[in-house]
Parts: sequence; C-alpha cells; structure tokens
Amino acid sequence: MIHTKLDPFPKDFLWGSASAAYQVEGAWNLDGKGKSVWDEFVRIPNKTFKGSNGDVAVDHYHRFKEDIALMAEQGLKTYRFSIAWTRILPDGRGEINQKGLDFYSDLINELLKYGIEPIVTLYHWDLPQALEDAYGGWESRQVIQDFTNYAKILFDAYSDRVNYWVSLNEQNVFMMHGFLMASHPPAVTDPKRMYAANHIANLANASVIKAFRDGKYPGKIGPSFAMSPAYAVDCQPENVIATENMLDLFTNFWMDVYVYGRYPKVALKNLAKNGLAPVFEAGDEDLLKAGKPDFMGVNYYQSMTIASNPLDGVTMTGEANYSGKKGTTKEAGQPGMYKIVSNPYLEKTNWDWTIDPAGLRISLRRISSRYDLPILITENGLGDFDTLEADGQVHDQPRIDYLKTHCLAIQEAITDGVEVLGYCTWSFTDLLSWLNGYQKRYGFVYVDRDETNEKELKRYKKDSFNWYRDVIRTNGASL
Ligand code: BG6
Repeated sequence: MIHTKLDPFPKDFLWGSASAAYQVEGAWNLDGKGKSVWDEFVRIPNKTFKGSNGDVAVDHYHRFKEDIALMAEQGLKTYRFSIAWTRILPDGRGEINQKGLDFYSDLINELLKYGIEPIVTLYHWDLPQALEDAYGGWESRQVIQDFTNYAKILFDAYSDRVNYWVSLNEQNVFMMHGFLMASHPPAVTDPKRMYAANHIANLANASVIKAFRDGKYPGKIGPSFAMSPAYAVDCQPENVIATENMLDLFTNFWMDVYVYGRYPKVALKNLAKNGLAPVFEAGDEDLLKAGKPDFMGVNYYQSMTIASNPLDGVTMTGEANYSGKKGTTKEAGQPGMYKIVSNPYLEKTNWDWTIDPAGLRISLRRISSRYDLPILITENGLGDFDTLEADGQVHDQPRIDYLKTHCLAIQEAITDGVEVLGYCTWSFTDLLSWLNGYQKRYGFVYVDRDETNEKELKRYKKDSFNWYRDVIRTNGASL
C-alpha cells in the first residue's frame, strides 16, 4: 500500500524509551542485592567485550533522579525499565529485601512525579544465581513457581501505580544465546536442553500472566519478542521454504505459544523427528492457553534474509560481530533448514545489523494479522560509536536518521490499520551492551565512560535528544 497521506499518531500514543536493570543500574552488590547469573558470567574470561561488566554500569541506581529529570526535560511519556529479581529476592525465593522493593518504588514515584508512565519488565535476563545453583534455573520446573511468586510480589507492591507489565524480555534471544550459542549464561550448546528450558520458560510466562488475571490486578501484561522478519533471498522455491522454516521454528514458534498456547505443527513435528520436542506434562496445555497476553511487545532492530542451507551447511555459532568492525559477521544458520544471508538492498550498522525501517512495518503488519493484538514497541534503536566533542556535544545524525525512518514506518503501519500503543527507543542513556561493552552506544544521553575507565559518568545530551523532544511535543507531526 502506498499512502498519499499518513494517519496521525493516536492522541495518547506512548512515546518512550527503555533500559534494563543490569545494563544501567550498577550497584551490583549493594543494599542486599543477591548475585544474578550475569554477575557471575561476566567474570569468566573472554565472555564479554574487553571483559566489560555491569558492576557500575552507568550508575543509574544512584543517579536515577538525574536521569528521570532528563527524561522529563525531553518530554518522555513512558519509560520502560526492568526490575532486578535479585534486588527483591536475593536468593530468587524466600526472604524479601525491603531495600530492593523501596528502590523501585522510589523510581516509580519519581517517574509519576513528572507524569511519565512506567512500563515494568519483570525479567530482563538476570536470573538469580542461587536458582541456577539450586536447580539449574530455567531447566527446572521449580522456576515456574519461583518466577510467579516474584511477579506477584511486584504486582502487589506496584500495581497501584503501574499499568503496563512486560513478562519476559526476548525469550527467543536468551534461550538461543544461553543454550544454543553458549554466548549468554548458562553458556550451553545443546538444542535438546534449549527446547526443554524454553518450554519451561513458556509455562513460567503463562503462569505469571495467569496470576496477573487471577489477582485481578489492573493494567496490561505481555511478553516482549525479539522480532526479525524473515525475507526470502529470492523467489527460488527452496529459499522460500527455508524462509517458512525460519518463520515456523524461530518466530511463530514463540508468539503462537504466547497467544494460542500451542507450538506451530510443522515445528513440533520437526523437533519430534529429531528427538528435540519439549515434553508436555498434564496441565501444560491448559496453562499455556491461560496465558494469553493483552499486547505483544516487540523489540525490533533488523530484518533477516534467508536462503536454503544444506544438511552439512553452516550452523548457529556464538561467533558474531561484537567489535563494531563492519563486515566481520559470518553466515550462520540451521543445517537442512535455513541460513541467514546478506541483503543487497539494505545498509548495515557497524555491527552488521541491517537498517530496515520497512521491516518494522512488515513486523507490525504480520503480528497484527496473525494475532490480532495491540502492539507495544518495547525496543528499537541504533547501536553506534558516538563521539563526545570538546564542547560537550554529540552529533549523532545516524541515530536521528534511524529513529526517524522507523517512526515513519510505524506511522505507515498505523495508517495500514495496526494498533500500536507506544514506542520505546533503545535506550534513554547509553548503557552496557551485554556482549559489546560500552562502545556500542544507543542512548539519547551520552554517558562518559568506557570499558576500562568509569570516569565521572557524566551525562551529555546528544543531538537526538532534542530531535526526539520535538517529535514527542508534536506527537509525531515534526517527523
Ligand atoms: C535487545 C535486548 O536484544 O537488544 C537489549 O533486549 C540489548 O538488552 C539490545 O541491549 C541491543 O543489543 P546489543 O547486543 O546491541 O546490546
């Protein structure tokens, strides 16, 4: 559809920005916080870029008032952040740490003081290490109850002030990195264990949503999915089949479970044939069906272009471009299924991620058609090297271009008929990129630190800060 005129953004559109606890807070061992799996993982040599970690991160724990004042100055309508499970329950279960509860209560109040709507992510990858040690974390069904109890503590404490909840952030990413590519904790390469753990995460996600409904808490809840729409490299039928493989096994595979409580048939048959299918126990099906979300959270960065992959073809390794040296990404895929290839029509970032605003529109259209749910865009942004000039300015025009074209793509999707609740850029301040250190920056606010030197962690507004302020003030009319 080519529109001659775009519909305006809805009046109450949630213009926002996002972060995650481990990537911004720091204070990793303060005020009673327990250790998460990331607190341990970053200490294993060669796991992260230059051994970077979130011990201090950008010190949001101590500077949240300063950061929120900047959000207010920019005019943010919403801020999405995650809660560190180990601040609330240092061992993942048992005794509550009041100081942890108080920290997030203060943070929520500070946001509300400026009329900024909090969107709270329950889980953004920082599983309590104690649960990993006790029963293997996501690999044990015990985590379902523990995650649900933790979520209920948060619902009880904050649902008088929080209207939007994200259950799991990017289950597809933390499962594949954790259990297939060994690049996130628990750093395993075992597809059978991945599908088993993933099934348990599905049950935990559904259980938390069910608890939210049963408790009659006000507000809306949904997971955030890392969406990369798959394009066939050309119209050769084998490449189109490979794209269907990608869709069923790596896209619908998660979202169908969230919405319909079942796995795509083709995916399940394939897993069963290879001895990888998750084991269903009595009650699983009912629980999955009881976990239908209110919205689909979408994290969108790039599209993927797909070609067929022979049985002895490339595999999914943990290797990727974590350095920012353009062109260092190698082909990866699932033998006999599909592989990800370069798209000659698209520009790429320094980390070889495609820049494809139309891919966001396509994602929104596909999700809306298949699931008929409102969509909350919970992440979108450009990771780039930014330069702090001597006069304290940061001219991040590539970020403005990236965000502008993606906002326009959202407006096109809205004009197409998709219901979009809001848009959170990634990220508000610069923050720690899990595997790429501090040099891959995403924020509107530059934080002066690098992998080896925390410096004073001073904040500087980038050009994109003012640009987004105008977009918000005009509700998108300035785009
Ligand atoms: C998403 C995550 O996958 O992408 C974020 O939810 C992450 O936590 C973001 O930081 C960007 O990825 P990266 O690898 O560039 O930091």
